[in-house]
Amino acid sequence: MHVLITAGPTREPLDPVRYLTNRSSGKMGYAMAHAFIHAGHSVLLISGPTTLDVPDHVDFIPIETAAEMHAAVANSIGGVDIAVFAAAVADYTPAHVAAHKIKKSGATLTLELVRTPDILGAARLEFGFAGTLVGFAAETENLEANARDKLTRKGCNLIIANDVSKPAFGFDSDRNEVLLVYPDHHEALPANSKHALAHHLVTAIVELHKGHQSSVISKDQELALIHLPQ
Ligand code: C5P
Repeated sequence: MHVLITAGPTREPLDPVRYLTNRSSGKMGYAMAHAFIHAGHSVLLISGPTTLDVPDHVDFIPIETAAEMHAAVANSIGGVDIAVFAAAVADYTPAHVAAHKIKKSGATLTLELVRTPDILGAARLEFGFAGTLVGFAAETENLEANARDKLTRKGCNLIIANDVSKPAFGFDSDRNEVLLVYPDHHEALPANSKHALAHHLVTAIVELHKGHQSSVISKDQELALIHLPQ
């Protein structure tokens, strides 16, 4: 299977020496890239800046901004079977990037920010992706309801949700505890290292893909039957 994974934070520049970013380490996405390779799949990893080593045998596209990640996904998602969006993409980016270092002046400084492209939201609608689509959701309340809302809005087959209000898990931690939210049910995976969890997630995603494929095939077969000459 051909798998595309987005991972890490994005970096949104303010001026030549400053940027806005977040605490994503990229560990979950990189662990999944490694686990997909281990299971015999081919992986393209599109990642913002991290301190991690790119796993062996992974094709790698480094990006910095949300706009660059959007362009890299748009260019590479054709021919992909499974897309996993694990990146912590900035929701807003500075409206203007100053050409020179911003000097300190008044007591306050107001930045104008504009929305970044929703890359996961674009997968179905803009890129016409028809494969298995997996998103992540980092929530601090109403984990299942918020993840289910995201699943529907973004046309995902699975949302991997985690409660980032628990200090031991999520951003920059080596461990995670996730809830798998599918269209018709959900399943909690117990706390584990991101590495071990990635292997369970890869198994669940590949199973989901096989089910998804067989439902696409049976729909095609139904259509073929409907169109059989009488
Ligand atoms: O809406 P929210 O940011 O919580 O959604 C999280 C999911 O959407 C993650 O899978 C993340 O990688 C993806 N996402 C994206 N592009 C954005 C924002 C989020 O692909 N601009």
